[in-house]
Amino acid sequence: MPVSPDITSPMLSAPLRAELRRDVLRGLGSPQKWLPPKWLYDATGSELFEQITVLPDYYPFPAERALLESCSGAIAEASGARTLIELGSGASEKSRLLLNALRARQLGTAYVPVDVSSSALSQAADALRAEYPGLTVAPVLADFTADLELPPVEGPRLVAFLGGTFGNLLPAERAVFLRTLRSQLAPSDGLLLGCDLIKDPAVIRAAYDDPTGVTGAFSKNVLTVLNREFDGDFDLAAFDHAVLWDSHNQWIEMRLRSRHRQTVTLRGLGLAVTFAAGEDLRTEISAKFEPDRLAAEVRAAGLEISRLWTEPTHHYGLALISPAHDRAVDAVRPRLGEDVG
Ligand code: SAH
Ligand code: TRP
Repeated sequence: MPVSPDITSPMLSAPLRAELRRDVLRGLGSPQKWLPPKWLYDATGSELFEQITVLPDYYPFPAERALLESCSGAIAEASGARTLIELGSGASEKSRLLLNALRARQLGTAYVPVDVSSSALSQAADALRAEYPGLTVAPVLADFTADLELPPVEGPRLVAFLGGTFGNLLPAERAVFLRTLRSQLAPSDGLLLGCDLIKDPAVIRAAYDDPTGVTGAFSKNVLTVLNREFDGDFDLAAFDHAVLWDSHNQWIEMRLRSRHRQTVTLRGLGLAVTFAAGEDLRTEISAKFEPDRLAAEVRAAGLEISRLWTEPTHHYGLALISPAHDRAVDAVRPRLGEDVG
């Protein structure tokens, strides 16, 4: 992985642009058009996500923060982590709760935020260096779906993956992610996984379909990225933000729906893409989990949930996960569903 973030530039580096090109050709060329969600997060996308976290109906953020407020001490004790590595760290806001708990125990001497958004990463790193003198802050600009490589820093290492970002991966991507991570974890390392749990679909839908249009602007931001990178002519006003709950897959989908038949040109790619009236482009999914299903995915990757805390009001979960010692541990039921109030 590259070790430090680039200067904040709205344009992508050549290798990233080549990757976006591949994703566009694949995603916009498939019968159900889609794009990987990581392209939503340029500086504007990261800023829009920050706005989402304070929307009244967006419960995942406050639910996870409440869990961390009550459980960070137990997490710090259980992990004994000297280094906190955070994947998809964004503004690193909730990370402070973990850092405080670790540092109160003379742990947590280094923090390694990992993100694809160079602006979010450098802003968070600057703020944390100022707030935590003595903390080594070593940001890494990297894609955890492609080049996940944990830094060889002092252990035990606690890898935090918060915000429900795990649920933004497709099931096959989640399996690869967990196995890749498992292969790099030492016996004393741990994973702290924040996952939204199954609940009334109306509550979930409200979180992702805000009337103020922030989530819609976030979703449409990917079109702005394509216009900028590939000299495109996407008209953002020609698409509507749509949210649908897929009960079979148990995930919410964020889509951009073409208002009418239109052909969009990406001159930089020499590509013309036609959208039928009402045709959708999927920009992100957010899977919701049954605790048993989460435990099964984790186990299949050679990991085990040692603790699962759940926030009872909004039904959000925080799982502390370790490498499985041997197959015998599979028979031991994890302590699922410890509610914290
Ligand atoms: N952890 C923060 C932010 C969650 S938003 C919170 O809980 O509030 C998701 C974050 O993951 C964004 O900062 C985004 O830039 C980052 N991200 C998304 N896909 C990524 C990928 N493939 N690799 C690395 N970071 C990614
Ligand atoms: N990680 C966030 C989540 O799953 C990302 C997100 C915010 C999102 N708004 C969204 C995903 C709308 C899909 C649809 O909650």
